[in-house]
Amino acid sequence: MPRQLLNLFDYELEAAERMEPAYHAYYAGGVAENLARDDSRAAFERLRLRPRVLRDVSSVSTECTVMGTRCDSPMMIAPAAMHKLAHPEGEMATARAAKRAGVIQILSTMSNSAVEEVAAVGHPLWFQLYVFRDRAISEDVVARAEAAGCQALVLTVDVPALGLRENLARAGFEGAPHLDFPNFSGPGAGGDVVHHAAHTFDPGLSWKDVDWLASKTRLPIWLKGILRGDDAAIGLEHGAKGIMVSSHGGRQLDTAIAPVDALPEVVEAVDGRCEVLVDGGVRRGTDVIKALARGARAVMLGRPPLWGLAVDGEDGVADVFEKLRFELENGMMQCGCRTLKDIGPDLVV
Ligand SMILES: Cc1cc2nc3c(=O)[nH]c(=O)nc-3n(C[C@H](O)[C@H](O)[C@H](O)COP(=O)(O)O)c2cc1C
Repeated sequence: MPRQLLNLFDYELEAAERMEPAYHAYYAGGVAENLARDDSRAAFERLRLRPRVLRDVSSVSTECTVMGTRCDSPMMIAPAAMHKLAHPEGEMATARAAKRAGVIQILSTMSNSAVEEVAAVGHPLWFQLYVFRDRAISEDVVARAEAAGCQALVLTVDVPALGLRENLARAGFEGAPHLDFPNFSGPGAGGDVVHHAAHTFDPGLSWKDVDWLASKTRLPIWLKGILRGDDAAIGLEHGAKGIMVSSHGGRQLDTAIAPVDALPEVVEAVDGRCEVLVDGGVRRGTDVIKALARGARAVMLGRPPLWGLAVDGEDGVADVFEKLRFELENGMMQCGCRTLKDIGPDLVV
């Protein structure tokens, strides 16, 4: 009997059966013992909700804005490399689904579809940046993202080196030579994301590079991969306009603190000066409520859209977001919240 796809976990199981095992391992894995990956999820499970009753929830809205952009729900597509490992239409299918779901897509530097092509879908699109040792290539990538109409740049700050992805060796993952990275050109531009992380990304990145980036673009810069309040505050001093609390899906430093646990400290440190987003382990509508109750403006999802893509392309990604939006709406009713503004810190312990 075919599996019923009732929630995001069902999509995860179904994708695992459908995908090429080595590619699946690349998507699913964390690092070392997978403790950071698994605790990101477990941290949401540890939190408990304190619902309010008798608040007339006959009409509920999940609408919000993120940096001024209206979204149907407080969810975004986190940047993830190589969507074509899941589906031949890759990031294009994801983009069309984002448009249908009314959510912002963040395109990875390491996407298999060019930023210009993805932007032509006409939905709100942000661009995630890895800074290369060769700054000229990075400047070109930034200029292309800006010219294509991306609304923000997301500088990933948690990859000083690739994490210890032992599972890739075990699964025999060797990149995908048939795929391409069309957002940049240069030596060895095709195929292997792991190779690029080791040889192309700049491990010498420091706060002065945030200043450098700000001098090269008129787009707002978000910092992705912050897990401490002090780093968030330094980021704002260097001109960042938004903070993304993330442990890269537990793919970088094992035993890193769960993002939803780091969130309150970061929210306190920025003290209303910018919006804060969080990702890592968001799988249920109640997780979204918990993240918002702890001060996030919205959440981002990394793996679930990839599972949707692997199962049913554009329709699968759209369904993942519709399921989560429906769960959020239901959770809001159970908690006595008519709008996202009704979700406050008192809701969660
Ligand atoms: C397969 C895969 C590829 C990723 N590639 C990138 C990337 O290119 N840039 C980046 O900033 N984060 C990348 N991430 C991290 C995600 O943006 C996000 O932080 C993480 O997946 C959130 O956790 P979740 O998968 O539990 O939702 C990737 C994650 C996965 C699973």
